[in-house]
Amino acid sequence: MDAWVERAGWLALYALILGMAFILWRKFVEGGVCRSEERMDGKTVIVTGSNTGMGKEIAADMASRGARVIMACRSMERGNKAADDIRRKLGGGGTLIVQQIDLGSLKSVRMFCKTFLKTEKRLDVLINNAGVFFCPQMVTEDGFEYHFGVNHLGHFLLTNLLLELLKKTPNSRVVLVSSFTYNFTSLDFDNLNYKHSYGRMQAYMRSKLANVLFAKELARRTKGMGIDVFSLNPGGVHTDITRYLLPQWAMPVCDPLMALTIKSPGAGAQTAIYCAVASEVQGMSGSYFSDCKEKAVGKDGMNEGVAKKLWEVSERMTGL
Ligand SMILES: NC(=O)c1ccc[n+]([C@@H]2O[C@H](COP(=O)([O-])OP(=O)(O)OC[C@H]3O[C@@H](n4cnc5c(N)ncnc54)[C@H](OP(=O)(O)O)[C@@H]3O)[C@@H](O)[C@H]2O)c1
Repeated sequence: MDAWVERAGWLALYALILGMAFILWRKFVEGGVCRSEERMDGKTVIVTGSNTGMGKEIAADMASRGARVIMACRSMERGNKAADDIRRKLGGGGTLIVQQIDLGSLKSVRMFCKTFLKTEKRLDVLINNAGVFFCPQMVTEDGFEYHFGVNHLGHFLLTNLLLELLKKTPNSRVVLVSSFTYNFTSLDFDNLNYKHSYGRMQAYMRSKLANVLFAKELARRTKGMGIDVFSLNPGGVHTDITRYLLPQWAMPVCDPLMALTIKSPGAGAQTAIYCAVASEVQGMSGSYFSDCKEKAVGKDGMNEGVAKKLWEVSERMTGL
């Protein structure tokens, strides 16, 4: 009997140590948290790609702070379902409005802006979050390589068409959700549409480098106009973004593994939320953040000449 009691005691101790190690591990993995209690009452926020993943968490957070949130989603059905989920979870709070946008269609981006500018009087924060990753080679409605078209050009046009309203709204912000992977590539202006060769990861990383360069150049062009522009790395986050990376049959194994080893969508959303609301970042336009802290931008993301060239090329491609 005594031996059984002793064994049970050891087992309980091991379980306790494992449990504590797991909690500490998850705390480490989840990374920086936005501690700002800033309210967003009376403010209008657009979050692209907010029907799932980090975008949905960002939209929920903005609404919980009292903002009027425009959920810019590709599918109205998925968007409305997400908005209902958020309303149920919050049980009141800010306003959530779902508006259709396909960032892979310049026509759709223009339509979105036309409707938005007709109905809204201010734009406090534009969060360019939507994104695609590791897609097979395909093109947008306008014939652009899909990562570059959706992740960069769609957001480039959206931001520019809303720029006048952002300028009119005091202390507005533009937040671009990039990725640390931008560090491992550089832009090839002769092959933006991948006519010569195509690599899924290369295409994604270049579109994320374009996000960082766009943020830099936009910050430079809007200096002194009351707009702060930030780009950020959310870290590795367990979302639907892996839809083209992993085959369906691998999901029962990979899903729990990812849930253990990378951030939850709520944790991944923290840096974008921080950039959208924190008072201490006001005036830090052009900065790049990770884990709710400012980080130095890698050399390719700093190159002013490349940023200017990208802006001009993007203007031509989007017909601005
Ligand atoms: N997850 C990560 O580990 C990670 C790491 C670094 C950076 N990021 C970046 O974080 C951002 C959010 O990603 P996530 O992980 O939350 O991914 P996610 O769960 O797959 O969400 C992506 C969102 O973008 C939307 N979207 C895709 N194509 C679109 C289009 N053509 N027009 C409009 N919306 C479109 C999706 O809408 P549908 O549901 O209709 O497809 C979805 O709402 C992305 O920019 C991604 O590059 C993610």
